[in-house]
Amino acid sequence: MCSLFRTSSIGMGGQSFELAENPIFDGADRSFCFLLPETMPVDESLITPGKTVCVTGAGGYIASWIIKLLLERGYTVKGTVRNPDDPKNTHLRELEGAKERLILCKADLQDYDALKEAIDGCDGVFHTASPVTDDPEEMVEPAVNGAKFVINAAAETKVKRVVITSSIGAVYMDPNRDPEAVVDESCWSDLEFCKNTKNWYCYGKMVAEQAAWETAEEKGVDLVVLNPVLVLGPPLQPTINASLFHVLKYLTGSAKTYANLTQAYVDVRDVALAHVLVYEAPSASGRYLLAESALHRGEVVEILAKLFPEYPLPTKCKDEKNPRAKPYKFTNQKIKDLGLEFTSTKQSLYDTVKSLQEKGHLPPPPPPSTSQESSQNGIKIES
Ligand SMILES: NC(=O)c1ccc[n+]([C@@H]2O[C@H](COP(=O)([O-])OP(=O)(O)OC[C@H]3O[C@@H](n4cnc5c(N)ncnc54)[C@H](OP(=O)(O)O)[C@@H]3O)[C@@H](O)[C@H]2O)c1
Repeated sequence: MCSLFRTSSIGMGGQSFELAENPIFDGADRSFCFLLPETMPVDESLITPGKTVCVTGAGGYIASWIIKLLLERGYTVKGTVRNPDDPKNTHLRELEGAKERLILCKADLQDYDALKEAIDGCDGVFHTASPVTDDPEEMVEPAVNGAKFVINAAAETKVKRVVITSSIGAVYMDPNRDPEAVVDESCWSDLEFCKNTKNWYCYGKMVAEQAAWETAEEKGVDLVVLNPVLVLGPPLQPTINASLFHVLKYLTGSAKTYANLTQAYVDVRDVALAHVLVYEAPSASGRYLLAESALHRGEVVEILAKLFPEYPLPTKCKDEKNPRAKPYKFTNQKIKDLGLEFTSTKQSLYDTVKSLQEKGHLPPPPPPSTSQESSQNGIKIES
């Protein structure tokens, strides 16, 4: 039986990110208060007040931001975690509204009954829980079973819509894709390629997404899928997840060089908002690619070095023989059409590092010597 743990401590720890006050925000007057676009039609039968939704993997990086946003919008949230008593989940209890409207349920992805109990009574489900590993045994079966179990439980308990967090890994891992082709929601990774290159994370995400679509069709469940690229931005949780490590390794000096690779990036707050947008918009359907910009690793370390010169960022590419890899082309128009405005990756990198400093994952910045301003690439930096 699933034990329900109503959160017990109060706190107004919900961070708010007022970008207009942020020194590197590009000048537009936009605050990060999660206002939904005014013009967006919403399905009144799905939304607040008083509606209950389930978020799986509640303590995770992306899920924590989704829960923060849902609580701010008045939803009651049933969040699944593997261990409600683990201190890594305490940040959830400090979110505004958590005391009254957040219920933590113990559930593993391989435990159908526990998932069903968490999902029972909910209008919607946000399924974000997934192993994030390249170990095939830890990755594939839990990811696939989790996706199937969530859809089956949603069908049995008459959930109105399920939103699943898939990945760019299920979209663009195809060695035969024309490098000039624009990656969009119609693209699927090549499973054989993922298997042959032992990319078990992408393999697992792809087969889990496929299983979700098949089960949803069979059971008549309304499913929407999001495919984020590498996610950056300030964490709410106290621990470091895999995508934050991508940036941290450059700042701590553990990566002495950067790879000759490109990658696309998106902010965690935009990813959370996209989940709510596709849940609430009646017209939302199919897959949504979530990507702001594609950058070479060299560009990422250059941005970081300009913003945070105090850290030992690598200056050399591991591969100095070949020309710089070119970023792939993509479109993010589908989610923009639902009203999402993307945070710039530069802003996202800045906010990530500031947050990692505040949480003690990085040494604090040196004390400000003078009040001076410099201008780099049109971005105003104050120190
Ligand atoms: N971050 C990215 O760059 C990125 C990009 C694209 C897609 N995604 C997808 O977004 C989702 C969330 O990722 P994230 O970055 O937020 O990762 P995260 O912080 O590592 O969160 C993953 C969550 O999944 C839970 N989980 C893992 N295995 C589980 C299992 N067997 N049973 C129950 N729960 C389990 C974890 O619970 P515990 O706390 O109990 O371990 C954790 O809460 C994942 O589906 C991931 O594939 C992430």
